[in-house]
Order: sequence, then structure tokens, then C-alpha cells
Amino acid sequence: MDRIVVTGNGPLQGTIPIAGAKNACLTLMPATLLSDEPLTLTNAPRLSDIRTMTQLLQSLGCEVTSLQDGQVIAMSSHDIGNLTAHYDIVRKMRASILVLGPMLARHGRAVVSLPGGCAIGARPVDLHLKALEAMGAEMDLRDGYVHAKAPAGGLRGGEIDFPFVSVGATENALMAATLARGTTVIRNAAREPEIVDLAICLRKMGARIEGEGTSTITVEGVDRLHGATHPVVTDRIELGTYMLAPAICGGEVECLGGRIELVGAFCEKLDAAGIDVTQTEKGLKVSRRGDLIRAVNVTTEPFPGFPTDLQAQMMALLCTAQGTSVLEEKIFENRFMHAPELMRMGARIDVHGGTATVTGVKTLRGAPVMATDLRASVSLILAGLAAEGETVVSRVYHLDRGYEHVVRKLRGVGAKIERIKGE
Ligand code: EPZ
Repeated sequence: MDRIVVTGNGPLQGTIPIAGAKNACLTLMPATLLSDEPLTLTNAPRLSDIRTMTQLLQSLGCEVTSLQDGQVIAMSSHDIGNLTAHYDIVRKMRASILVLGPMLARHGRAVVSLPGGCAIGARPVDLHLKALEAMGAEMDLRDGYVHAKAPAGGLRGGEIDFPFVSVGATENALMAATLARGTTVIRNAAREPEIVDLAICLRKMGARIEGEGTSTITVEGVDRLHGATHPVVTDRIELGTYMLAPAICGGEVECLGGRIELVGAFCEKLDAAGIDVTQTEKGLKVSRRGDLIRAVNVTTEPFPGFPTDLQAQMMALLCTAQGTSVLEEKIFENRFMHAPELMRMGARIDVHGGTATVTGVKTLRGAPVMATDLRASVSLILAGLAAEGETVVSRVYHLDRGYEHVVRKLRGVGAKIERIKGE
């Protein structure tokens, strides 16, 4: 398995291009199942999760062609011959569940493997199923699969009241509702930019949607959707991740394509920690105000709150802050696996349930560490950028799921980092 070797190398200078959002692309791709006309995505990120979604759609009979070195994904679902999403693909990536709503809405049937849990939590899909049942679907769970069936006349518009915010369940419900007969109202809907991006794409395909980005989304079902071409929105999690590089190392980095509205709550915490963020024409320019990072408290929440997907990376910054920071992880039940690895580098972190207390130390020391999940892996790299000596991060396949060309992007601003091919 490959490893990444990072050596603390002082302040960073330059620009980092930010790619299209993994979590937008993973819901935009299944939208092809809603129409028999081509859907083309531009500004797509080059990631292993996108390749997995491509395999899944192809296994259903979709034509998926990757163009321009993966930045353009041309899809057509004219001849879907198979309505079963098999476990061997679904188990590799939970977002596979997002083919359920579109298949049910257009074909009236779908058999999708339950995704199973993952390192950061059990991550059930009960809200996805309840939302589709509110549109008249029948769900039969057996042999580890969801056997879903729409009523004879197709899905009906329904009232969906989510007990708590779920990004994926909102996406499944939104896609299914575009072809349901009548009006669907989704309450306590997720407000993430990826939901807004999906709604914009669906509207280009002919869907009738109002309220995306708020807690209540209303959809008037239509008979069919046509093809479209849509640019994937900038990845706010990759953006926030790279904004932390100059915050941790010093210097000044401009993240190209970055927009403040994608990372509002995150920027508020950076400001409190002593980090300056400026919107330029090309993106977000980030630098440290002084030599010291100030401790801040963080609680993860659904958008527009502080994103859970930036919690691990923020912890890496706070390890060398002046004072004690308290991080509360409210979205997932097991998302502090980066803490023991950061402690190997000299960090002082106490984890109790969903709360991590970080007591700042003067500096971290490089050490061999292990990536455990996608965002934890990049937090270890960020910590290694400013640590004294060499940090070797193993199991970097986690990283490839969500970050393209990490070594190239960080080398581009002066980091001392290389990838060692594994045996
Ligand atoms: C999406 O996951 C993202 N993944 C996650 O990013 C992100 O952390 C998460 O939203 C929260 O923002 C993609 O978009 C592909 P949820 P999702 O449904 O949709 C519970 C990354 O690093 N829940 O909003 O699966 C669930 O267990 C990944 O890029 C149920 O109980 O998240 C969690 O505790 C990690 N039942 C909470 O809700 C359900 O039916 C929020 O999950 C659905 C969710």
C-alpha cells in the first residue's frame, strides 16, 4: 500500500486549484437514471469514489464515458437493463444508495444492497426508505437488499418530515419527487451546497423545484426529464482542507475557485483562531494574522453550521493553538479516529464520547501514523506539514477517495511531501 511522507518545511506560498465537489458529483451522477436523454457533468473531480459510482451506473446498463482526463462525465441511461445494485459495488461506497430514488421514480422498481456501516458510524438508511414510502413506495428488506416497488401508477407526491437532517435522504427524496405524480414537500431538508447544486441540475433537466438551500423544498412532479449539461459545484471540503495548510504552516495561499459562502461557519472559526481569509476574484486568500493560533471551540452541525467533514482537519490546526479547544462531533458517532494518530505526533487530546478536548502544544513531532478514513487521513497530512521532522502516513487509499493530486497541490505551494509506491 502506498504511503505519503511529509516533512515540516516552513511557511507556504502560492495557489491551490480546488476541484469539483465529490459529494455533489456522487448525487449528480445517479440523476442520469431519471432521464433517457444524455446528462453531462463538467468540472468533475478525478477520484476513486467517482470511478466506483461509474462502475455502479455501468452495472445498471448506463453508458458512462469519462472525457478530458476525467473532468467531463458523459452519461446516458437510455437502455437500463438491470435494476439491481449489487453488494460488491455498494459496499465500497455508501453513496451507492443514491441510485434507489431515481430508479424507483423512473422504472417503478429497484433492488439495492444495503450499504452497511463504515469506520465513522453505523450510517443507516432508514430515512431514505421512509421518504420513498411517503411517496407510495413499498420497501421489502431481505438478504441484505432493499427490494423497492412503486405503486402501479408510479410514485405519488407526498409529505416528508425528516426527524433530523440527512444529506443523502434529502437527495434521494428530491430526485424521486421530480417524477412523482403531484406535489412533494420535504421538511427539515438538508441545506448543503451539494443539495442546491443537485436542484439546479434537476431544474435544467426540466424538474420543477422550489426552496433548495432552505429547510423546506417543494417539488411539482413532471412526466419526464430531458438531458442537460451541468458544472459540478466547487468542493467546499477540499477548499476548507487546503485553507488550513497556510493556517497551520504560516505563509499565504490562495485557493482558486473558493467562495466564502461555501465555508461561512468554517471561516468564522478560522477568524477566531487568528486566521485571515480574503475573497479575491480568483478565490480565497488565507494567511495567519500573527505567529500564534488561538484555541476555539467547534461543534459540527448540518449546513450552514460547521461541517463534520472539516472537523478532523480543524483538530490538526488546534493541536498547536494557544490554550484548550473543545470539539463536539454531533453528526457521526465515531469520528475521532484521527485523535490517537495525532497524539502519536505529540498532540494532547482527551476524547470522551462525542467530545474531544485539545490542549495546545508548542509543536508536533513527525511520526509514522495510519489513515483510518478519508478526512482523518488528510488531517494527518496537515499536521505533518508543520511538525518537526518526518511524518509517514500509511493506508493513503482512504485519501484517494476524496482528494485528487494532494502531493502535487501541496508541493505547488512549497510543502515537502512525496508519495512512496507500496509493495
Ligand atoms: C453525506 O453523507 C456526505 N457524503 C458525508 O461526507 C457527510 O459527512 C454527511 O453527508 C454529513 O454532511 C456524501 O454526500 C456522499 P447524512 P450522508 O445522511 O448523506 C444519520 C465525506 O467525508 N442517518 O447527512 O450519509 C447518519 O448516520 C463523507 O465526504 C440516519 O440515521 O450523511 C448520520 O449520523 C463522510 N438514517 C447523520 O444521520 C438515515 O437514513 C447524518 O447523515 C440517514 C442518515
